[in-house]
Amino acid sequence: MIEIAQQAGEILRVGFGQHHQVEFKGEIDLVTEIDHRSEELILGEIGKRFPDHAAFSEESGERSGSAEDIWYVDPLDGTLNYSHGLPFFCVSIAYAHKGRFTFGAVYDPIAEEMYTAENGKGARLNGKPIHASAVAELKSSLLVTGFPYDAWTNPINNFAEFQRFSMRTQGVRRLGSAALDLCYVAAGRLDGFWEIRLNPWDVAAGALIAQEAGALVTNVRGDPDFIGKPQSVLAANPALHAKMLEILKESNLSL
Ligand code: IPD
Ligand code: CA
Ligand code: CA
Repeated sequence: MIEIAQQAGEILRVGFGQHHQVEFKGEIDLVTEIDHRSEELILGEIGKRFPDHAAFSEESGERSGSAEDIWYVDPLDGTLNYSHGLPFFCVSIAYAHKGRFTFGAVYDPIAEEMYTAENGKGARLNGKPIHASAVAELKSSLLVTGFPYDAWTNPINNFAEFQRFSMRTQGVRRLGSAALDLCYVAAGRLDGFWEIRLNPWDVAAGALIAQEAGALVTNVRGDPDFIGKPQSVLAANPALHAKMLEILKESNLSL
């Protein structure tokens, strides 16, 4: 998995800063030829090594295979950043065995940072163990979030919650890559993350990495399912998680 993430990251790195063919999947939801090239490599390598495994991948949908062995692939998380030449994006790959996330790798090819986790064995950044922060108070915390692609038209868009948290914390960042946001929580660079209406491939690897780094990862109602619909995710060390949950419960985000 690490090898595949590195190879895909290299495709992103080489293409970074060049002119891209942009297609629009929605008004502000776009995809470049680099997303497709990275995905082709990842699915090709998985297929060669594990021909009977299934995969959910952002650009090409479902690849059928064994229900017990499923890969979740985001070939380029942070496409909008990428297409603007903003160096905050990654490759995200996770593997689940019998419904349990077992391995995850998130690679940022610009910072040359490889985040990895194996279920029950901790999380690492470039091979060194990482841990979520111990910040327990909202007023001492720096958070990160994101907004869904239909935020222009859907009133449940996280804007009110962004404001609510901004009034109670040191700050709330919007960095533009959910997978890296989760890894930054895992590395203790940011204290907590929440977002709504993400897809399984955005969160699968990062959530395992954050959990293995000591963060509690749930949906915004506090339930353990952060993949099923209506999808949402909340990740922070357990003490801060409880305080973020109180704020989120006051809102209608979970509708
Ligand atoms: C997006 C990023 C972003 C999040 C979006 C995602 P993409 O993934 O993770 O941070 O706010 O909702 O869809 O489209 O760049 O792969
Ligand atoms: Ca994504
Ligand atoms: Ca993507």
